[in-house]
Amino acid sequence: MLIDTHCHINFSSFKDDADEVIQRSLGNDIWLINVGSQYSTSERTIKIAEKYDKGVYAVVGLHPIHLYETEVDESEQGIEFKSRTEEFDYDLYKNLAQSRKVVGIGEMGIDYFHMPKNINFEEVKQKQQQTFQNGIKLAKELDKPIIIHTRATKNSFDAYDDVINILKQADYTKGVVHCYGGNLEQAQELIDMGLYISFTGIVTFKNAKDLQKIVKEIPLGKMMVETDAPYLSPEPHRGQRNEPAYVEFVARKIAELKKVSYEEVAEVTTGIAREFFNI
Ligand code: NI
Repeated sequence: MLIDTHCHINFSSFKDDADEVIQRSLGNDIWLINVGSQYSTSERTIKIAEKYDKGVYAVVGLHPIHLYETEVDESEQGIEFKSRTEEFDYDLYKNLAQSRKVVGIGEMGIDYFHMPKNINFEEVKQKQQQTFQNGIKLAKELDKPIIIHTRATKNSFDAYDDVINILKQADYTKGVVHCYGGNLEQAQELIDMGLYISFTGIVTFKNAKDLQKIVKEIPLGKMMVETDAPYLSPEPHRGQRNEPAYVEFVARKIAELKKVSYEEVAEVTTGIAREFFNI
């Protein structure tokens, strides 16, 4: 058994076949955590999760790219969109989180890569940080874990430093840094603080040597696996639409890098995810 701890079956890429994709995942003994990125997709993730007794869960939150209108180009998957603008409404998200299917708050965090045009960097930074702090406050109040999105300025690790500082200030470490892309020192610091690190299909890419080194260095007992579907399909499906069933390729690559069995990676990461999300 595996748990895809981060996917977006609530996104429009799956509008015609979400249930088939979920059945395929559950049929392969893969549970999934379906993650919202704004109010509408958060609401949808709850609706989807409520259709299933077991194995499909929801996380609700506001992603930093939805604070401003931003062009997003995930061209490898043929997905391009303009993000819609939303302000974080604490009470609305608190309300959503009352569903018994909501097992966490997110995805939220910092994204200095997808920047809106014509808006001062400092202003965007401020707003992202403040929104992240509010999201943490909500998670704290509800005693739920957080899924953290972090994307740095090109060729930099700046967003990871800011995430670490904000978590320290908020004194909240019940979190997972999803789709890890920081450096080894930052990964170690996050782990020392009590957070988990999660890896996507990027670990299977030939050019991801730095990330593969991080997988080798950090303990298996601090990792989770995810797809971030529809994005970031692992090899051998790179370039196609991703789906939760493909999380197996991520786990197999981690097993190879850490020189342990696939069964061990499956057992350890599943155990962590079940405890973390209380499922
Ligand atoms: Ni995501």
